[in-house]
Amino acid sequence: MRTRTQIGIVGAGPAGLLLSHLLALRGIDSVLIETRSREYCEARQRAGVLEAGSVRLLREVGLAGRLDRQGIEHGGIYLQFAGERRHLDFRELTGRTVTVYAQTEVVKDLIARRIADAGEAAIQFSVTDTSVTRLETDTPVLRYTSEDGVQYEVSCDAIAGCDGFHGICRPAIPASELTVVERGYPYAWLGILADIPPSTDELIYAHHRRGFALHSLRGPTTSRLYLQVDPDEDIANWPDDRIWAELSERFALPGWDLKPGPVLDKNITPMRSFVSAPMRHGRLFLAGDAAHIVPPTGAKGLNLALADVAHLAPALDGLVRGQPDKADAYSATCLDRVWRSTHFSWWMTTMLHRTPGADDMEAQLQLAQLRYVTSSRAAATSLAENYTGLPLP
Ligand code: FAD
Ligand code: PHB
Repeated sequence: MRTRTQIGIVGAGPAGLLLSHLLALRGIDSVLIETRSREYCEARQRAGVLEAGSVRLLREVGLAGRLDRQGIEHGGIYLQFAGERRHLDFRELTGRTVTVYAQTEVVKDLIARRIADAGEAAIQFSVTDTSVTRLETDTPVLRYTSEDGVQYEVSCDAIAGCDGFHGICRPAIPASELTVVERGYPYAWLGILADIPPSTDELIYAHHRRGFALHSLRGPTTSRLYLQVDPDEDIANWPDDRIWAELSERFALPGWDLKPGPVLDKNITPMRSFVSAPMRHGRLFLAGDAAHIVPPTGAKGLNLALADVAHLAPALDGLVRGQPDKADAYSATCLDRVWRSTHFSWWMTTMLHRTPGADDMEAQLQLAQLRYVTSSRAAATSLAENYTGLPLP
């Protein structure tokens, strides 16, 4: 079946979903397709921290009802190292805070809103055979087969590739047109979701000779914790008791206990830094993980995806109205923020993780840096400014 829309959007993660909403607010229609089911998209455990700018953006576009009721505002984080836990007070250092609100909840809110505004057909879930072609023309084409087996060919004014790291949009750009800068890390994160009230009021990032650990949360009765493990580690080697014992050791402090509880979900995530540029080829625009990946230590991945589409919506609005200036500036504008976040995420990661086989020099340099960021106001302010995030447009 042949159809037409203004903007074809590939991928219903945070980037694609928010983009379709921002475009609708501007009176621009879009077709949004997703290979997974709605249930899968709403259950996938990922990020948990929203920057101040992301919260403001979601509020401004009418998407913060549940976020304002259930999000938990945090004024800082703890950095733990050498047997001490020190607090960094973001509110005092920068006047800004972050909000703990799970990516799954952001995705649920976005899906519910698109369907309330535009009906069940607003998002085509469980599609197959997706492809994007004619990217160098003014009428790029999006093809897919719907869940009920109908083949669609959608003629668009532009296509937004919001289909994550493993999607089809970035590979549709000739490799000779892209510069890819990439680094893998020799560790991964084992993450658990646990049915137990958090043992902490704010996130704890712990440096330990056995490896990094992070205590985060999802709500008053749900904790989210991470352990540094080897990149090729098999989750089958980590029964729940072993995970809790390892977490207890890495967070150990006299007079403080980590409360264990039932594990609801566990997975292992590899760590990489990846930037592909430019974020545009002809009438295809990439946003979010489709163009860049950061290791999760700086809590930036989700925030970068939201920031990209905050720029992309006005850029596409201009493009379809014959004013291409913002579309022409889109890639360079986003890449400034992407590289700042890439640096910050790399810096947090290398300050806190143990490289397998590293000598004592690595640990001593990390400890010197941790003492510095928790004792110098200038260094603490720099971390706080990066963690709480750059202002959005
Ligand atoms: P995604 O959320 O990946 O969405 C892309 C969507 O496109 C997906 O729904 C996918 O199914 C769909 N898709 C793929 N191919 C196609 C196709 N051909 N056609 C149609 N649809 C397609 N960040 C943090 O800050 N903290 C964390 O703890 C954290 N943990 C993470 C754990 C994992 C396993 C992963 C993969 C990422 C994690 N991130 C984390 C990063 C953060 O979740 C991402 O940066 C964020 O999801 C990016 O949003 P996005 O919309 O760009 O991409
Ligand atoms: C999370 O809550 O999942 C989380 C929080 C902070 C990070 C990474 C993940 O740096």
